[in-house]
Amino acid sequence: MTAAKTPVVVPSVLAADLSRLGEHLDAVKAAGCGWVSVDVMDGHFVPNLSFGPDFVRVAKARGFFVDAHLMVTNPLEVAPWFAEAGADLVTCHAEAVSDARAALIEIARLGVKPGLALKPKTPVEAVLPALDLAAMVLVMTVEPGFGGQKFMAEMASKISRLRREIDARGLDCWIQSDGGVNAATISTAAAAGADSLVAGSAVFGAPDCAAAFRDLTAKARAAFGSKQPS
Ligand code: DX5
Repeated sequence: MTAAKTPVVVPSVLAADLSRLGEHLDAVKAAGCGWVSVDVMDGHFVPNLSFGPDFVRVAKARGFFVDAHLMVTNPLEVAPWFAEAGADLVTCHAEAVSDARAALIEIARLGVKPGLALKPKTPVEAVLPALDLAAMVLVMTVEPGFGGQKFMAEMASKISRLRREIDARGLDCWIQSDGGVNAATISTAAAAGADSLVAGSAVFGAPDCAAAFRDLTAKARAAFGSKQPS
């Protein structure tokens, strides 16, 4: 059994007011945030276009651990751009690669931690054969493409299944819940076993993003793993 990780709230740049991105990042950093997520969308894999590698550079310049969530049809082609920009962890979607193990190995070869993401309809079995190679499994708790959507509580069972599998195999692998995570839903995700909780609207959409970050962190840590068999 690996030592349980302390749950972390990971603000998503997607929800930030880009005209005040530096101010937002400085505020959450001052509140203790160490990890932010950059959602990369190509208009094909998801019906939206978002950020390039420069947004990783902006966050890295402020000392964050940065994960790049590649919602693109060609993740292995663009992964080097985000590694070169300084991303610490690069996540590709299981639905966008033909061989999850080979994809994780290829991403790791870039010198970054490799992650695998699952859309809501993709079963956890899609990642199990590659779980030993993953630094993180991202469980989408909304349909990918846009922030501000409703949390899909039915994804809690997928998170719990992953938590049991990772703990039983003693793997050092984050479980990230991404989408619709807010003050009302974060306890569900953390209780199921998610230890990385992406929150965009709930942090950067809040009047005081530092206070929102602190509140979400406290809720996540209070609830973590409470729905798991001891
Ligand atoms: C969806 C994105 C969002 C974003 C978080 O593709 O991945 O989940 O990171 O958005 P909120 O927290 O606003 O739902």
